[in-house]
Amino acid sequence: MRASLSRHAVLVQGVPDVQIVQQLDPLRSAVDGLKASGTLALVPTMGALHEGHLTLVRAARAAATHIAVSIFVNPRQFGPKEDLARYPRQLERDCELLEAEGVALVWAPDLAAMYPAGYATGVSVSGVSEGLCGEMRPGHFDGVATVVCKLFNQVRPDVALFGEKDWQQLAVIRRMARDLDLVLPRAEAILGVPTVREADGLALSSRNAYLSEADRKAAVALPDGMKVAIAAIRAGAPIAEATAALKAGLTAAGFASVDYAELREAASLVSVEVLGEAPARLFVAARIGGARLIDNMPLVL
Ligand code: PAF
Repeated sequence: MRASLSRHAVLVQGVPDVQIVQQLDPLRSAVDGLKASGTLALVPTMGALHEGHLTLVRAARAAATHIAVSIFVNPRQFGPKEDLARYPRQLERDCELLEAEGVALVWAPDLAAMYPAGYATGVSVSGVSEGLCGEMRPGHFDGVATVVCKLFNQVRPDVALFGEKDWQQLAVIRRMARDLDLVLPRAEAILGVPTVREADGLALSSRNAYLSEADRKAAVALPDGMKVAIAAIRAGAPIAEATAALKAGLTAAGFASVDYAELREAASLVSVEVLGEAPARLFVAARIGGARLIDNMPLVL
């Protein structure tokens, strides 16, 4: 393992090894160095990497010459009662995984590098951030938009990749990039990568680690129930009935509560009460054991 943590960029004997950077000045030099020999893709993460993140990294390989991955557990996107303190942190293991994937740069700022004393600026996106997770997690998307805007300015990527599992987050980030006329990356260069799932269909998430064995088994009711609801809607069932049946099925399967189960237009995230022309997706968030799981699927499977 050549990846090693340092407060400065690491280069091993001139070999283009992964550079792990935790402060802004060495980051700027590392980014300049990489951009001198090609394009740069950024995969923003909060660490605790799993196959879903590695799929984003592999997709990034096809999109740019060099890949940078950011690892930062962003306190501004966690509510006061959320899991910030226990969110899994495993930086060394993450760096090993990223080195094996040929990542050129890991940007792992500490809190003071991201939000120095006196920090006072936020980015807030309305519209697409409202409802769904925006309603259940007040302030969450302001925290996401703020940190992603900073990550974009820090790393200056030509392309950035995000998982479609967090579809609403992707919509918020694209809206921000359009509204603020971002240049690196341009809104069109913000790419969504399809959700990676376990063999039984559960979407991969760092929060799956919170599930007991029994809850993990029960959690499959989420993707299974979503497919049943989608099939029912496609067969002509009223949307409200299909989503109500989905919620009841999740509760019966052992979920403690369902935050939402809603059909929305895929691009605008406007609620769909009656099927129209615009592509639609089913969005669900539900709690089981100590975890809040989210998922979304297109109406056309
Ligand atoms: O999806 C995530 O892991 C986070 O919300 C992100 C985009 C890295 C911002 O902190």
